[in-house]
Amino acid sequence: MELDLNILKPQEQAALRLRFLYEGAGYRKYHMGRFEEYGLYQENRRFLSSEQVITFTDLDGRLLALKPDVTLSIAKNAQPGPAECLRYYYSENVYRPNLESHTFQEISQMGVECVGTVDQDAVEQVVSLAADTLAAMGADHALELSHMGFVTGLLDAVGAPAAIRPQLLVCVRDKNAHDLQEIAGKAGLSRQGIDALRRLTSLSGEWRTVLAAAEPLALNAAMGDALTELRAVCEALEAKGKANALTLDLSLVNDIAYYNGLVIQGYLAGLPRPVLRGGRYDPLLEQFTPGARAIGFGVYLDEMERLSAPAAPVESGAPAEKVMLNVALPKGRLGDKVYNLLAGVGYGCPENYADTRKLVVENREAGIRYFLVKPSDVAIYVEHGAADIGIVGKDILAESGADVYELLDTGLGKCRMCVAGPKDFEDDPGRTLRVATKFTNIAKGYYAAQGRDIDIIHLNGSIELAPILGLSDVIVDIVETGTTLRENDLKVVTEFMPISARLIANRGSYQFKRREIDTLLGKLAEVIGK
Ligand code: PRP
Repeated sequence: MELDLNILKPQEQAALRLRFLYEGAGYRKYHMGRFEEYGLYQENRRFLSSEQVITFTDLDGRLLALKPDVTLSIAKNAQPGPAECLRYYYSENVYRPNLESHTFQEISQMGVECVGTVDQDAVEQVVSLAADTLAAMGADHALELSHMGFVTGLLDAVGAPAAIRPQLLVCVRDKNAHDLQEIAGKAGLSRQGIDALRRLTSLSGEWRTVLAAAEPLALNAAMGDALTELRAVCEALEAKGKANALTLDLSLVNDIAYYNGLVIQGYLAGLPRPVLRGGRYDPLLEQFTPGARAIGFGVYLDEMERLSAPAAPVESGAPAEKVMLNVALPKGRLGDKVYNLLAGVGYGCPENYADTRKLVVENREAGIRYFLVKPSDVAIYVEHGAADIGIVGKDILAESGADVYELLDTGLGKCRMCVAGPKDFEDDPGRTLRVATKFTNIAKGYYAAQGRDIDIIHLNGSIELAPILGLSDVIVDIVETGTTLRENDLKVVTEFMPISARLIANRGSYQFKRREIDTLLGKLAEVIGK
C-alpha cells in the first residue's frame, strides 16, 4: 500500500516536514508530560504570556497545571553542563486563555530551543532554522529580525524615565510615532531624543538599508553591539542563500522581561498574526542554570488552519494580479470624510456607496476595496486580517486593545476622554466610586493607575443619564463640543486622553502589502497636512 501524504491537513504535513528538518539539524526531540507543578509557573510568572493557568490537585495532593508553555519546562529540566550546548525540538500542546472567546484554548506548538553555551554559530543556526521552518510552511513568507539591545540601548541613551518606558515600548511596537512624541515630550525628553525614538518606529525593511540607516543612530555600545550581531546574522543567512524573505524591523520589541537580545518573528502570507516567534532568552535560563544562555522559537501550527486553499499557479506571461488593499471604513461622518479625502488622491470607487446598501465597494484599477463597517468593529476587522487597514477613533482602539500597527494620527474627529459628573461633584476617597461608561477597559485602566477603587456600570449610550438618575457618581466618556454635558448640568472633572481618528494596519498585511499601504499612507498624510 502506498502512503498518500495529501490526506494530511497542511499543518500535519508541515509538522512532519519540520520534524525532519530539526532532526536533520541535530536537534533531539524533547518529550514531556502534559502537567507541571503549578509552583513552576507561580515562581516564574514574569516569563509567561498570561498568569491564568488551568490547575488541579493530583491524587497525592500536589497542585499541578496543564502546561501553558513548553520553554519553561525545558529551561528547568535541561541543566546544561559547563561549555555544553543542548539542542532540542518539541511538538506539544499548550493551554492558554483566549481573551476574546473568554475560554482556554489548546494550542499545538512546535519549536526549537538551544540552551547552554550559545555562541554565534548556534545563534546563526537557529535563525537559519527559522528561515527553513517558514519555507517549509508556505511559499510566501516573511522573516523579521530585531534586537532588544538596540531598543533598550536607545531608551538608556535618551534618558527615558523608567515610569514611561512601558508606554514608549508599546508605541514603538505599534509604530505609533504620534503618541510616542506626546508621551516623550510630556516626560521632558530632549528634541533629539524624541526624534531618535520616532525614527525607530520606521526602521524596517531590506536588511542592508535598515542597518545603514540605524548605524548613525547607535548612541552607545549596547546599540552598536546589537547592530553588529544583526549584521553578522544577516550576512550568514545570505551566505546560505536564505535571505530572500528576510527583513529587519528595529521596532519589533517582544516581551522585555523575556527576551534580551536577538528577536525573531515569522509570517505566512494570508495570516493576520505571526506564526513563528522567538529570540534570545538568557534571563529565563539563568533562573535554573546560572551562566547558561538560550535562544529558540515556537511555531503556531494551528494558525495554518486559517489558510485558504492554495491559489492556482499563475501562467507564465500572464499579467500579475493587482494587489487589492482592503480598507475597513467606519460608516458615518468620519468614514465619509476619510473616503472623500482618499477619493481625492485616486482611491475613489466608480460606485457611490451612499446611494446603495452595499457593504463592499471597490476600484480594481486603483487596487482599493472598502468594507463599510460599524465604527466600533473597525479594529476587529483589521486585527483579524479581514481588512488590511482601517480608520478608527482612538477611543475605540484603546478600548478594544487590538494588536495592530497604529500608523497615522489623521487629526480628524478630535475630542477627548473625560471623567464627568454633577456640577457639585467632589470625590470622596473613603468610598468606592461608581463609574458609568461605554469604555469599561479605559475606565478600569485609568482608575487602576491611580489605585482608586471603583465599581463599573457598563452602558451602551446616553451615558450622561447615569449620574443624573443616581445610577453612578461619575461617567467616563468622550466630550467633543461639551454641549451634552452643559445641557445636562454636568461638568468635566478630568480630561485624560486626547482622541482622534487613527489609521491602523494589520501586522501580517504590513509584511506583504507594505508598498501599497505606505503609498496610501503617504498620500493621505499629504492631504491632511501631516
Ligand atoms: C457621544 C458621547 C457624548 C457626546 C459628546 O455620544 O457619548 O454623549 O457624544 O459630544 P458633545 O461634547 O459634542 O456633546 P453619541 O452621540 O455617540 O451617542 P451615545 O450617547 O449613544 O453614545
